[in-house]
Order: sequence, then structure tokens, then C-alpha cells
Amino acid sequence: MIAAAAPASGPLHGRVRVPGDKSISHRAVLFAAMAEGTSRITGLLDSADVRSTLAAAAALGAEVEIVAARAEGLDVIVRGWGALGPRPGADPIDCGNSGTTCRLLMGVLAPWPVRVTLTGDESLSRRPMRRVTDPLTSMGARFTTTEGHLPVTVEGAPLRALHYEMPVASAQVKTAVLLAGLFARGVTTVVEPALSRDHTERLLPAFGVGVGRDVAARTCWVSGGAQLQSSDVAVPADPSSAAFLAGVAAIVPGSEVELADVALNPTRMGFVHVLERMGADITVTVMHATGAEPAGTVLVRYAEGLHGTVVDAAEVPSLVDEVPLLAVVATQASGLTRFEGVGELRVKESDRLAAIVDGLTALGATARVVGDTLEVEGPRALHGGALSSLGDHRLAMSWAVAALVASSPVEIERWEAVDVSYPGFARDVAGLAGEAAS
Ligand code: S3P
Repeated sequence: MIAAAAPASGPLHGRVRVPGDKSISHRAVLFAAMAEGTSRITGLLDSADVRSTLAAAAALGAEVEIVAARAEGLDVIVRGWGALGPRPGADPIDCGNSGTTCRLLMGVLAPWPVRVTLTGDESLSRRPMRRVTDPLTSMGARFTTTEGHLPVTVEGAPLRALHYEMPVASAQVKTAVLLAGLFARGVTTVVEPALSRDHTERLLPAFGVGVGRDVAARTCWVSGGAQLQSSDVAVPADPSSAAFLAGVAAIVPGSEVELADVALNPTRMGFVHVLERMGADITVTVMHATGAEPAGTVLVRYAEGLHGTVVDAAEVPSLVDEVPLLAVVATQASGLTRFEGVGELRVKESDRLAAIVDGLTALGATARVVGDTLEVEGPRALHGGALSSLGDHRLAMSWAVAALVASSPVEIERWEAVDVSYPGFARDVAGLAGEAAS
């Protein structure tokens, strides 16, 4: 599907509650599936990726019932497999586009006497899986990969604990090892090179399982022999989706956008700090905690005179999904913006480094990659053109944000990729612009 994203005809104004957080949604469903008893999840993100996790949980023997579909998301009841363990059918489990579904499932399945094949779409089948299968193999599980990629067959086994120093800061890898460690003999410890999102560490205790943490040492651990108990989870809005609307307000003159009930977990707030350093006018108000996750309002008012900044490698995990959007903002800021240590972007839903440089250059911006650093020079007047999302939801939305400050429309091929995390994005932008979505 090709979408024509038009330049903004004026400022964007209003209040939006973006859909539920994707990372928390995946974890809530999987932990509920693993638990003994019945869990109720409210505000679950209704998107293609989370639907993949819901389908996987059901295919593995959890009872999953969608009881309501509301504007804030799905209300879902999950009756977990508990101490009986997962009971897979014979068919492979299709993880679609979702790296989180597939990598977390490897950790979920590794301790059980099951044999399950995981598949995914073309994009997911290009992404590296050894980062998860290697540590889980050291714990005693067996994997057959397709040269390190999907399809992957997991053969679970009784596990021994692991002390794992992760080579990359990845919350998916950390979570897979911790979930396997819950059923291993001994204490499993994970040490990260930089702190990645900590939703697993925050949410597991709600399911009755302790997680030890030494945040300063970027270390966490779990004890084996655990049994998760059911829990109720309310999912706050996704900061990674909110970031696109924050970016819009930061670059479209005169705009003022309030984002409600956003998850304000510090491990996800990198985009706010970077926009503030660039001179954006942002007010963050913590309103409440949904479970162990703080949530509140992010208010962004357009401010003149954005300028470049340096994002250093240690900061990258806190904004890893926001780099495409921040690169678009950087085209409107004066001077150089450098994103250091962003090599991981090459193995996301697309090669985002190459895609950012190609896409921004096609719209008249100046961007390049030097080693693992992305550089964007601004300000540049963008023009319209034709771009592809490459099937990557975050690229689709980044190009739509760029279109708002371009001199003519941007045609975005494979627009439907937005369904992966934010199906109502175009409608919400149109609402802020005071228009009906086309
Ligand atoms: C996620 C972790 C990140 C992120 C992804 C979601 C998670 O991936 O990019 O969108 O929910 O754990 P990595 O673990 O590969 O950094």
C-alpha cells in the first residue's frame, strides 16, 4: 500500500493517548502464559506484533480470550500453563515480524521437554538469532538454526544456570536468558555492556518471581525452580510511539502536543533527553505508576532554534528504536547531530542505518554513516519524493514525520508496516492537524 503523506498545512494541536507499550505487552502475555492461574491484561497493544505473541501463547497451550477491544487497546484474559509447562502442537509457530516474540519464546521454551520450530516473515528471517541461541545452548538447550537465522527449532532440556556477560546491550537477549534461568538449576546472572530496557526485571515480581539487581553494575539475576503466579497488568502507552508525535511537535512551527499516560521508564526516555538537548520545549509529568512502571504526560511545544547534539554509545539502548525519528528531527536542527555506536540498527526490522541515509538523502537532507556513527547535518529544507518503509514500521512513521516539514508530499510505499506497532498513527496525526484521516 502506498500512502501519500502531505506537508502540514499549519501547527498540530491536541492530546493523544498513543497505543500500549509493545515491550510491556509482549512480556505481559508471555508471563501470563507461563503463570499458574488466570491473569487479566488491560490496554494491551492491538498490533500485528502483539497478535503474534497472543497466537504463540495460545498455540503453546495457554487459554487466551480477548474480552474487549477498546480505544486504549485490548482487554485480555490469559489462563497460563503453569507447572504443566507448554504443550505445543505439531505446527511451527509463526512470529511474523516480531523479534521480541521469537527471541523471548526461545527462553520460554528452553527448559521444557518440547520441540518447537519458530518461523518469521522475510525481515525477521534476516535477523541474527545466535545472540539468543548461544547462551541458551550453554545452559543445556539445543537449537537447530538456519545459518543463525529462522527457521529455528528449539529442543528444550533440563538447564543449568549461567553467568552471562552479554556482548551487546539487548533486552531481548537479557530477557530470554532470565526466563530460561527461572527454571534452571542455580542462579543465572546477566551482565550488560550498557543498561537496556528493564521491563522484565520490573514485571516478573508482579508475577511472584524475584529478580536481583545491581543497576550500577548493570547486573541482574534470578534463581531457578521458580513458578510464576497470575497477575493483573495495565499497560501504559508506548513511549516509542509517543516519540513520533513528540518529534512532530518539535519541528512543525506553532505545534503543541500532549501525550497522555506514557510509560516513563527511565530506560526508555533517551529520546526526551536528546530532544531537550537539541532545544525542544518538553515537560514530563509523572502522574502515577501502572504496576512497577511510572507513567505520565509528555507535553511538547514547538520551539525555534533546534540545534545538533551528540548521542553517545552508552545512551543508545535508551533510544534504540527512536534513532530514525531523531534523525528526521536532526535535519531541522542547525549544525551536526552525531549518533555514536549505532551499529545495532543494521539488524533491526531493516538495515536502518542504510535506510536512514538513503531516505533522508532522497528528501534533500545530508546524512552519512562513518563506521558505527550516524551523522546528520542541518538545517535542510526537505522536498517531497517517493520512499519505501522497507516493511519497517519505524521507517514508515519517520518518513511521514519528515513529510510534514517537506515542501511537497512524500509517497510512502509499504505503508501498512505501521500495523506492527501503531496502526492508528495516520488517524492520530490527522486528528492533531484538525483533519479527518484519509
Ligand atoms: C525490545 C528490545 C529492543 C528493541 C525492540 C524491543 C524488547 O531490541 O529494539 O524493539 O522488547 O525487549 P534489542 O533487544 O534487540 O535491542
